[in-house]
Amino acid sequence: MKYAIIADIHGNMPALKLVLEDARKQGADAFLFAGDYCVSAPWFNEVITCLRTMPDARIVRGNEERYLHLPDGEDAQFAISRWVGHSMSAEDIAWVDALPERLDWECEGVELHMTHNSNAFIGGAEMQTFGTGKMGLERYPGKITTEKLSADMREVFDQSEDFHQHLSELPAGIYVFGHTHCQWHAQFGDCLFINPGSCGMALDCCGFGAPYTLLTIQNGSYTVEERRVSYDVEELIEAVKQTEQYQVARVWSEVIFTEWRACRERMLFFLPHVEAYAQKIGDLRRPFMPDTWEAGFEDWLVNGQKP
Ligand SMILES: [Fe+2]
Repeated sequence: MKYAIIADIHGNMPALKLVLEDARKQGADAFLFAGDYCVSAPWFNEVITCLRTMPDARIVRGNEERYLHLPDGEDAQFAISRWVGHSMSAEDIAWVDALPERLDWECEGVELHMTHNSNAFIGGAEMQTFGTGKMGLERYPGKITTEKLSADMREVFDQSEDFHQHLSELPAGIYVFGHTHCQWHAQFGDCLFINPGSCGMALDCCGFGAPYTLLTIQNGSYTVEERRVSYDVEELIEAVKQTEQYQVARVWSEVIFTEWRACRERMLFFLPHVEAYAQKIGDLRRPFMPDTWEAGFEDWLVNGQKP
């Protein structure tokens, strides 16, 4: 069995299409989807339709799917999530809501487990040390390779008591998750951990493209191959600018563009900047209203720290 493992598509159908084509060329016969299908790029309806019609897929829900039910509001901060929720059919939303948070199954003598967030398996080990907010310039001043990232994870986890405590309680098997948007994999004892990175918005400093991971299982043993399908980031950005999302959520979209171009987290650094800006001008309205949101963005472009 050859699985293509795909996570964090975030509405980026052009990236998903390329990954599926590449995976099929590589001989993938089944697909694992580890959550976060919408918000950030505007083609979430196409993504959901694609997933719903795939006969050979196992799919878990992500955290972004929680934001499909936001109440109406005048704020700009959550305009994109509200727009996504309003733009999806009731049937698609019900399908997403019904997705399981965790799947456990067996394949050719190997136990597999999948959730969106690695917390369920290894506690905070990954998020606390390799969450995207921890991947700043001081740690990785330039582009790195997935091999370097996996090696660094191994080193950090090797020294983490918390990680080893969780590891000691895990049954042998393969553990699949997404959420950090960092592509890595590592074997510890009888456990293999795989995060395929984010198909739709890689934030792991490993360069633009659509990451995913192939897992081949045969007669109880397995191999892993990390792949990243390249495509044109400026073409993607121009396509987003032609959609309704860009009209409804220009600032959010522009911050996403900077993340795509840098392959680094920016939103987590943008939000505190807007908070500081709002406090400076004495605006206590939360979530942020359009005037402060727009002005805070312009201020961020000039004065923001962009690790
Ligand atoms: Fe995500």
